[in-house]
Amino acid sequence: MRTVYLNGNYVPENEAHISVFDRGFLFADGVYEVTTVLNGKLIGFDGHIERLQRSLTELGYKHKVDREEMLAIHRELVERNTLEQGMIYLQMTRGNPGDRDFAFPPEDTPLTVVLFTQEKQIIGTSVESEGLKVISIDDLRWGRRDIKTVQLLYPSLAKMEAKAQGADDAWMVQEGFVTEGTSNNAYIVKGGKIITRNLSNDILHGITRKSVLACAKLLQMEVEERPFTIEEAYEADEAFATSASGFTNPIVEIDGNKVGTGKPGPVGDRLRALYIEENLKAAI
Ligand code: PDD
Repeated sequence: MRTVYLNGNYVPENEAHISVFDRGFLFADGVYEVTTVLNGKLIGFDGHIERLQRSLTELGYKHKVDREEMLAIHRELVERNTLEQGMIYLQMTRGNPGDRDFAFPPEDTPLTVVLFTQEKQIIGTSVESEGLKVISIDDLRWGRRDIKTVQLLYPSLAKMEAKAQGADDAWMVQEGFVTEGTSNNAYIVKGGKIITRNLSNDILHGITRKSVLACAKLLQMEVEERPFTIEEAYEADEAFATSASGFTNPIVEIDGNKVGTGKPGPVGDRLRALYIEENLKAAI
C-alpha cells in the first residue's frame, strides 16, 4: 500500500480523507503538477514548482509555495514508496470552507495539499518503438489552459473518444489549428523544421516543452513556434508529443492518416535521447 501525503501528514492511502465540502471536489478549485521520477530522482522539479506558483497566483490564491518544503515532501514520498521510475502527483485546492458557496472562503482557510506517487515505466516502453495514434477533436475547454487546474473532464472525454475510435489520444483543434494533446504538447516536423504552437493562454506551458526546445537548440535544429493546422499535421514528415510523464512520444497516425513513414521519426528520437541525457544529469 502506498504512503501518501495529506496536509502535513504521511498516511497509508486508505487513511487519507478529504471533506465533502472541499473546493477541489465541489468546484474543481484546485491546481496540480506531475513530476517525473527516474532512478529515484526528480526531473524538472524547479520548473514544476514555478508553474505551480504561477497557477495559484493566476487563480487568486495568496499562498506562497515553499520550494524546500515541497522538495522534502517529494523526496520523502520517493523514499517511503521506494519509487525508482514513475511520477509524483501534487494537488492543492482552496480548502474546506465547511459549506458550499460560490464565493471564495476567507483567505486564512488552509489549502488542501495532497501528494502521491504513481509507478510507471517511462523509458524503454513499446511507445518509443511503435508510436501513438491520435484523432483530432474540437477543443471545448475554457480559455485559461495555461493554468494547470484539475478541471480535466473535457480532456478525459476526448481521451475516451480517441479510445472508442481505436486511437491512443486526441489532439484538440480550435478554429482549424491544433492546440495540444489531452495531456501533452503537440509538434510536427516538416522539411527538418520543428513546428509547435506558441505559448499563450490557449495551451499549457509544458515543462517538457521548454526542455525539449532547449535540446533542439543544442542540436541546432530549426524551431518555429506558431499554430499549425490539422491538415498540415497530416502532411508532416513526423509528429510527436511531450509531457513530463511521457517525455517525447512519437505520433505515427493522425485521423487514420499515416504520418511520414508511419514509424517514429529521427527528429523525435534524437530529441528524446538528448532530453533524457540532459535531464538525468540535472535530476535532483
Ligand atoms: N499533463 N498540455 C496539457 C493539457 C497537459 O495536461 C500537460 C501535462 C502538458 C505537458 O506539460 P508538462 O510537459 O509540463 O508535463 C501539456 C500531465 C502530465 C498530466 O495531466 O498528467
